[in-house]
Amino acid sequence: MRICMIGAGYVGLVSAACFAEFGWRVDCIDKQPQRVASLRRGEMPIYEPGLDDLIERNVRAGRLTFDTDIAAAAAVADIVFLAVGTPMRRGDGHADLSYIFDAVDDLAPHISGFTVITTKSTVPVGTSRRIEQRLRALRPDGEFAVCSNPEFLREGSAIEDFMRPDRVLVGCDDERAEEVMRRLYKPLSLRDAPVMFTARESAELAKYAANAFLALKISFINEISDLCEKVGADVQEVASAIGRDRRIGDKFLHPGPGYGGSCFPKDVSAIIRTARENRAPLTLIETVHHVNEERKLDMAQRIRKALGGHLEGKTIGVLGITFKPNTDDIREASSLTILPILLHDGARVRAYDPQGRKHGEEALPGIEWCDQALAAADGADALVVLTEWNEFRALDLEELKSRMRGSILLDMRNIFRPQDAEAAGLTYHGIGRPQIAGSADAGHSGEPLIQKVG
Ligand code: NAD
Ligand code: UGA
Repeated sequence: MRICMIGAGYVGLVSAACFAEFGWRVDCIDKQPQRVASLRRGEMPIYEPGLDDLIERNVRAGRLTFDTDIAAAAAVADIVFLAVGTPMRRGDGHADLSYIFDAVDDLAPHISGFTVITTKSTVPVGTSRRIEQRLRALRPDGEFAVCSNPEFLREGSAIEDFMRPDRVLVGCDDERAEEVMRRLYKPLSLRDAPVMFTARESAELAKYAANAFLALKISFINEISDLCEKVGADVQEVASAIGRDRRIGDKFLHPGPGYGGSCFPKDVSAIIRTARENRAPLTLIETVHHVNEERKLDMAQRIRKALGGHLEGKTIGVLGITFKPNTDDIREASSLTILPILLHDGARVRAYDPQGRKHGEEALPGIEWCDQALAAADGADALVVLTEWNEFRALDLEELKSRMRGSILLDMRNIFRPQDAEAAGLTYHGIGRPQIAGSADAGHSGEPLIQKVG
């Protein structure tokens, strides 16, 4: 089986390497020459744990190649995956499909023999049909079928998610294509991973519905955590108690500074657009989006409140700027909303992130970057944890405190035990946790008084 993967980003690279690991021959195509050149040198353009070893092993075995030119790979491929970006379109919040259709146009002249073309990118309902129409117009002679094979992996645990999926979903209405897709995923179905075949529309919509539902769980627990603060409950205990109910489940009930990343924000926005256009508005999901936007502003307000209401002349240390740990991705991270507000209000911001600095330096001008976590505390009036990187959990809180000018710790991921922080002399503010007696109240501010900057 020969596979052509178009797009060497988070999804394309991981999928290409994992398919090669199954034993298939994979050609991975990306239009960025410097990305392909670095992959050929064995340098990873993204940070994803375990990916370098997996790629190195499969390149060495002759199963995985990288190129900018699609011609040769497309001509021999049994399956072509579209794994290019589908970012939020400026202006209307819909998915921007220009990368998808550009890739289809690049591909069309080179299809040879029966070829399955399948989206791995997240695309709105009806996109497979549109791809098919476009290809038919470009290649009336072409022998092909178009499928939808949405990807459910998470950054940071992408390889494990790909190799041990809860399900593989294939939207397909062509028998020959179904046979090819079954063969492709046989290594997973042999390991009891469910491989589901549905209508293409169902697969396309299921991807958005899954992300919208997960986003809903996060906004739900974030609102419950605000209520916990008001009534003296502990959100960790509440989440753990409701999570034991298997109808609810204990995953995605961690409160925080709002969800981010390259997927939830854009996919929530896109499904809202699809629903409105089809006159079936998703009012619940529209509220989820709104709650998340307000959440980020409220976090900035909490920091200001903990520091006495104004930030002029204050130094704030920040631990973590990526949207989640184990990735270098900062797309739509809550740091991108919160830190510009702190700077705009006159604070000096010193940040450390184990992998996010490269992208952070471009996206967050005005931040002072630190080479290690403890350094972010130097001279700080307050220290804010935005991303729950494991290395932060092991920090010596007494040393952190000794390096600070002030004593405020705003732990927006609840990674520290309040009593440990207080014992180290810090004034601890978690999320959805009862305040320790004597600590200042920096809890939910009621209404956000802060506007987004930029
Ligand atoms: P990305 O931006 O990291 O990578 C996309 C890559 O495609 C880039 O390297 C770009 O140069 C390349 N590209 C664009 N047009 C091309 C073309 N015509 N020919 C060759 N290469 C081209 O994107 P990503 O995060 O991997 O996401 C890709 C898709 O997968 C999106 O639709 C996203 O919603 C979906 N998805 C992402 C994740 C994730 O965790 N990032 C998970 C599931 C699904
Ligand atoms: C998410 C989904 O989990 C994947 O299944 C999906 O394939 C992917 O989007 C996609 O469509 O691209 P990802 O964005 O990598 O994956 O990361 P998540 O682990 O889902 O986290 C997303 C955001 O939610 C992060 O900002 C994270 O901090 C936040 N989150 C997550 C919480 O605030 N609380 C939680 O309990 C879980």
